[in-house]
Amino acid sequence: MRLLVTGAAGFIGSNLIHLLRHERSEWSIRVLDSLTYAGHAGNLEPHLGDQSVELIVGDVANTADVNRAVEGVDAILHLAAESHVDRSILGSAAFVQTNVVGTHRLLEAARKSGLPMIIISTDEVYGDLGPKDPAFTEQHPIKPSSPYSASKAAADHFGLSFVRTYDQDVRITRCCNNYGPRQFPEKLIPFMIGQILQGAPCPMYGDGQQVRDWIHVDDHNRAVLAVLEKGEAGEVYNIGAREELTNLQVVEQLGLALERTVEIEFVADRPGHDRRYAVNPAKIERDLHWQPTVDWKTGLSSTVQWYLDNSEWIESIKSGAYKSYLKSNYGHR
Ligand SMILES: NC(=O)c1ccc[n+]([C@@H]2O[C@H](COP(=O)([O-])OP(=O)(O)OC[C@H]3O[C@@H](n4cnc5c(N)ncnc54)[C@H](O)[C@@H]3O)[C@@H](O)[C@H]2O)c1
Repeated sequence: MRLLVTGAAGFIGSNLIHLLRHERSEWSIRVLDSLTYAGHAGNLEPHLGDQSVELIVGDVANTADVNRAVEGVDAILHLAAESHVDRSILGSAAFVQTNVVGTHRLLEAARKSGLPMIIISTDEVYGDLGPKDPAFTEQHPIKPSSPYSASKAAADHFGLSFVRTYDQDVRITRCCNNYGPRQFPEKLIPFMIGQILQGAPCPMYGDGQQVRDWIHVDDHNRAVLAVLEKGEAGEVYNIGAREELTNLQVVEQLGLALERTVEIEFVADRPGHDRRYAVNPAKIERDLHWQPTVDWKTGLSSTVQWYLDNSEWIESIKSGAYKSYLKSNYGHR
């Protein structure tokens, strides 16, 4: 298998490459990544150094970069995205460019070359649920709340329209919140670990009762592999771990895992903040025989240990731009 993975210098993609090198070592892997603030070539080491992974530094919204990247591959896993909801609220143009235009460019290239393409989407495209509503199935209406989820929903719609119009092999995965190593420190778990370790207050949006379903990144990536190897063209697969927790519970459990006191500071809520996401993964469990294997407690403890052991990684990626982002997002709250 010769695989193109877009966005693999980021969190989920880099974990996927490490998993593939371990479990599908005979595959040849090419990465297309423009190395935005969230992408770091170092996340792909040691595989770039030993030349088992090829990195093309390029933009998924640039036709020449995309054409170069798809040449000679058998399939595309499309992860590249602007991925942070708070940044999409501060400015959404980059989300339209990468998530919508970029996905469209890849779909066109996949169509011309007859390549199967898997779009790594999100449960956020469904909007949110009430406290007692059943979890999202693949039939749930698409009703995004943030500019981020709207851009991901638009990409999904393009993908499914290419299935219907061109009979193209496009598959979509919609996963819940991921946690694990190498997640950019603006996201809830690594951000709060950093605050707790510094003895700084943990800023909690609104009442902290927003519920998310949490999955270990390796379980997500194994589900993506199942979709690649056993999935059907034109199908959407929800991926979830049935591990629903409020944001407040997540932060409290981080404090317990770190054996530190947690100081919560309630701050102004995120505009349009979704109250609850919950994913029903019955379809992928039944049709592709995938199941999550990492329970929340074990996964959280190994994740916390990874951040404790890799403080130099965290420091190396906190640029001046990251510090000014923190100021724009939290400064006024
Ligand atoms: N993190 C989650 O909890 C989660 C949950 C469900 C779905 N997803 C989806 O999974 C995918 C990966 O998420 P992540 O958390 O690893 O994101 P991330 O922000 O950590 O990484 C995104 C990667 O995409 C690259 N990228 C951004 N714009 C690009 C462009 N124009 N061209 C080429 N590369 C570009 C970045 O450099 C980075 O390496 C995204 O599509 C996201 O929507 C994430």
